[in-house]
Amino acid sequence: LRKRLRKSLISVISSDAISEIYNAYDIIGDIAIIKVQNASSKSARTIAKAIMNVHSNVKTVLAQTSAVTGDFRLRSLKHVDGENKTRTIHKEFRCLYSVDVGKCYFSPRLSNERLRITKMIEPLEVIINMFAGVGCFSVLIAKYANPARVYSIDVNPLAVEFMKKNIRLNRVYDLVVPLLGNSKEIINRQLAGLADRVLMPLPAKALEYLPFAVAALKISGGWIHYYDFEYAEKNGIPAESTTMKVAKKLAALDVGFTFPFSRVVRTTGPNWRQVALDIHITSLSDKS
Ligand SMILES: C[S@@+](CC[C@H](N)C(=O)[O-])C[C@H]1O[C@@H](n2cnc3c(N)ncnc32)[C@H](O)[C@@H]1O
Repeated sequence: LRKRLRKSLISVISSDAISEIYNAYDIIGDIAIIKVQNASSKSARTIAKAIMNVHSNVKTVLAQTSAVTGDFRLRSLKHVDGENKTRTIHKEFRCLYSVDVGKCYFSPRLSNERLRITKMIEPLEVIINMFAGVGCFSVLIAKYANPARVYSIDVNPLAVEFMKKNIRLNRVYDLVVPLLGNSKEIINRQLAGLADRVLMPLPAKALEYLPFAVAALKISGGWIHYYDFEYAEKNGIPAESTTMKVAKKLAALDVGFTFPFSRVVRTTGPNWRQVALDIHITSLSDKS
C-alpha cells in the first residue's frame, strides 16, 4: 500500500517530501495521522487525498502539529481532509479499541511489543499495568493470556472511560480492573505485594516509578517490563545505557535482579530509540 502511495504522489510533490511522510504516518481505525511542515498547505491536502485513495478504509486525515507531551502524553492535531473527527475504533489482533486520538494516547507502533509481552505470560498471573491508556496491553493480555487479573491504571480520566468501553467491547469484564489515578498512589494504597508482573509503558516516568513497580510485586519476585527513550549514535547500543541506569536504581533498592532481554521497539527521532527492557526481580528485600 505504501508503494502505491509513493506512486500516486510522485507527480505532485518532491521525492524528498514523499520520503518524509512515507514512514511518518499512522493509521488508527479509520483515521490517518500525518506529519507535515504545514497542516493547512496544499501539499498536506494532496498527501491526505492520496492516503485516502490508497487506504480505502481511511475517512479522516489529521496532521500532528506538536510533539507528544504532558502527563497524559497527548499531541495537538489539526484536521486536514475527510470527516472532521478524532474518535475511532482501531482493530488489532482481533481486539477492538475505541479511542479519541486527540484526548488519549494511542500508538499502533507498539502492537508487536504488546504481542511479545502477552506471549510471555503464564496462566493465572496477576498483572499491574501502571500506565494503561485506553487499555491496549491490558485487553490483549486478558483476551489471550489467561491472567487472574489485570489491574489497569491511568491518570487521564478520559483514557479510563475509553478503557471501560474497551473492556465491554472485548468482553473482558472480570479480568481487567480499570483504576483512575496516579499509579504510585494506587500501588501504595491497594496493590503492594500483589503482582507477578508489572508493565511500565511510559518512558518519561519509568525510572522515577521503578521503586513502586518493585513494591507491587509479590514477595517471591516477578517481572517488570520497563520502557525508556535513549539516544544512540549510529553504531551505539541504546539498551546499554538503559540497563546501566536501571541497575543502579535497583541496586539502591537492594533487590536481586537479572536482565534476560532488551530490544529496540521503534525509532522515535533522529538517533532516538524506544527501548524495552525485561527485568526479572529474583529477590526482594524489606527496603523495597
Ligand atoms: C505512553 S502512554 C501508554 C498508554 C498505553 N499503555 C498504550 O500502549 O497505548 C502513557 C499513559 O500513562 C498515563 N499516565 C501518565 N502519568 C501517570 C501516572 N502517574 N499514573 C498513571 N498513569 C499515568 C498517561 O495518561 C498515558 O495514558
